[in-house]
Amino acid sequence: MSAGHTNGLTVVVLAAGGGTRMKSKTMKVLHPIAGRTMIEHVLAAARAMDPDRIVAVVGHQREQVSEHIRELAPDVVLAVQEEQLGTGHAVRVAMDAVGDTTGTVVIAYGDTPLLDGESLRAFAAEHEAAERAVSVLSGVVDNPFGYGRVLRNDEGDVEAIVEEKDATPAQREVCEINSGILAFDAEFLRSALPRIGNDNSKGEYYLTDTIGIAREDGLTVGAHTIEDVMQTEGVNDRAQLARMGAELNRRIVTRWMHDGVTIMDPATTWIDADVELSRDVTILPGTQLLGTTVVAEDAVIGPDTTLKDCEVGGGARVIRSHAELAVIGGEATVGPFSYLRPGTNLGAGGKIGAFVETKNATIGDGAKVPHLSYVGDAEIGEGTNIGAGTIFANYDGVAKHRTTVGRHARTASNNTFVAPVEIGDGAATGAGTVVRRDVPPGALAVSSGPQRNIERWALTKRAGTAQARAAEQALGARRDDEQDVAES
Ligand code: UD1
Ligand code: CA
Repeated sequence: MSAGHTNGLTVVVLAAGGGTRMKSKTMKVLHPIAGRTMIEHVLAAARAMDPDRIVAVVGHQREQVSEHIRELAPDVVLAVQEEQLGTGHAVRVAMDAVGDTTGTVVIAYGDTPLLDGESLRAFAAEHEAAERAVSVLSGVVDNPFGYGRVLRNDEGDVEAIVEEKDATPAQREVCEINSGILAFDAEFLRSALPRIGNDNSKGEYYLTDTIGIAREDGLTVGAHTIEDVMQTEGVNDRAQLARMGAELNRRIVTRWMHDGVTIMDPATTWIDADVELSRDVTILPGTQLLGTTVVAEDAVIGPDTTLKDCEVGGGARVIRSHAELAVIGGEATVGPFSYLRPGTNLGAGGKIGAFVETKNATIGDGAKVPHLSYVGDAEIGEGTNIGAGTIFANYDGVAKHRTTVGRHARTASNNTFVAPVEIGDGAATGAGTVVRRDVPPGALAVSSGPQRNIERWALTKRAGTAQARAAEQALGARRDDEQDVAES
């Protein structure tokens, strides 16, 4: 993290609370929304401020949360709050962990997935320009229930924040709420924290008491009202998780449409936060683009397709399919009903067709696996066509083996390639071939013997059945025809 702010910038993310209303073995802030955990969204917003340091306060299920943060952002300072004695206490724990910092300290919560770095930046800039001791990011809402209310005097100056449970009926009428995001001058914060008491209805140390303390000290206090209050809305239960997830998705989808992506049905299109799309991509209804999927220009995805961590080349077409960790080349076609498992790499102009499953398979430029096949642990050269119903038998019950098919080969329907095996460039196979030995370049491999017909087999072996009767009738008719021919 660089020191973009002259006096230093510290962002504190509070995430020690229990989140019991999630009723989950997974800690609240670790629940995902748009492909990122909630705290990942908040840390991304914090990072967008280019701070000198980020501190995360953990407590409940702190092993889970700490491990996640260490993996995600090893430079984040972890501060442990053993007991959740209130937001004021949590910030004290954070300040103890960072020592003698100066400049601005911004407080955010780990459960606000819609928070945007741009809003935080504007808030901190205003706080710094006004040289305030404390700034509150406030919001005006229709239903302020449960929030701390921002109390102003007749001049409109912020006097205090009063929590729902401690508010008088008149104070509860106030619709300007504390979003929970606050900015402090570090020195003031350090002096105020030990002065916060817990003599209130919850018996907690309220960070919001710092507002009143600043006023008593004769320092400047102010509020910055955020228009887009959903950015600061926390998730407390799974119904809210779904609602915020839908809202975040709506925002992501709208952003991509503004960036030149055609999305036929925004309501049934789900795009994760880390997905990258190019101009003139078209997304058809019922499509999910997840993880770090990247889609290049003019590709058409959907309907009813899920791509997770995939790379799709320009002009490719993916119809009604499911793919994970797969690369789909430019102008290639996939589907309908294809299943591309990790390690699938389809070349430019290639095809993976209906009811085809692939895994760890490189399919060369212009190569095609059009129908009803399983391709596992394989390499197929450019321009090769694999016949319908081919199984790459990669597993002998103990170990997996690879199959290599060369360039411009033509293999016929209903083949089994028993790995490890190699089929040379320009080779061919007959229908129903079981390839157990390598096929040299240009050779035709056939494994089934010549066809043998055992005449009248059904008449004796299936006597009395509809099958036998049908055969008898056909043979009788044929005899009559032969007689007619002989007589004429
Ligand atoms: C808090 C604010 C309230 C504001 C609201 C916005 C205070 C006293 N109240 O109320 O003014 O309108 O948020 O949502 O600040 N946390 C800890 N350790 C603790 C207590 C809380 O880390 O000891 C964390 C929680 O995990 C959570 C955040 O701080 O992320 C807020 O705590 P919560 O108890 O939900 O505060 P509210 O009562 O909602
Ligand atoms: Ca809360």
